Amino acid sequence: MAERTIIAPSILSADFASLGQEVRAIAAAGADWVHVDVMDGHFVPNITIGPDVVKALRPHATIPFDVHLMIAPADPYLEAFRAAGADLISVHPEAGPHLNRTLKRIRELGAKAGVVFNPSTDPSVIEWMMDEVDLILVMSINPGFGGQKFMTSQLRKIERLRAMIDASGRQIELEVDGGVTPETAPLCRAAGATALVAGTAVFRGGPEAYAANIAALRGD
Ligand code: DX5
Ligand code: ZN
Repeated sequence: MAERTIIAPSILSADFASLGQEVRAIAAAGADWVHVDVMDGHFVPNITIGPDVVKALRPHATIPFDVHLMIAPADPYLEAFRAAGADLISVHPEAGPHLNRTLKRIRELGAKAGVVFNPSTDPSVIEWMMDEVDLILVMSINPGFGGQKFMTSQLRKIERLRAMIDASGRQIELEVDGGVTPETAPLCRAAGATALVAGTAVFRGGPEAYAANIAALRGD
């Protein structure tokens, strides 16, 4: 343990009029990944950005792009997001009928494959797919919007998934998304998370505050 926690700022909370600059600013401030929230107004009640925006942002940083797809179906868009420069692509099991096929396709495209758990999604969804997955993302809010309150009920799920990952003996990142703050981050780490997404808690205070905000989440 005691590995350095991966911090993945969600650009959902960035200034959308200056996204390239915002991506450069978080990378310079010590972010490990750029978390991109893709929403379609159908799977979740909000619309955000698509592959063209990922493509435009890609040259602004060298750190991995962690693309969280909240779209249904997801399969027709995997190739476009990979071509745009996504390094990790995560899907919700509820977004399509063939999770195994989707995960295989993501890896075939050369990206790391992630599965996202809504607050109501049971860990058993992943039980027969531990070999196909590189990242498990636990939502500690209902997906769709930033700035919501962390659901402590999800800590038990993080613990359960940590045990499943350890039993598999595989190198799978365990990421938490939603309401992550300097107060809730230690709870996530104690439950076994290795990566934390944060929008509000990274971008508040503007660019001068990003480095301190990221350090506070990492527990430095
Ligand atoms: C919500 C997104 C999150 C969100 C997190 O659907 O998946 O990544 O931006 O925002 P905060 O950190 O503000 O809860
Ligand atoms: Zn997200």
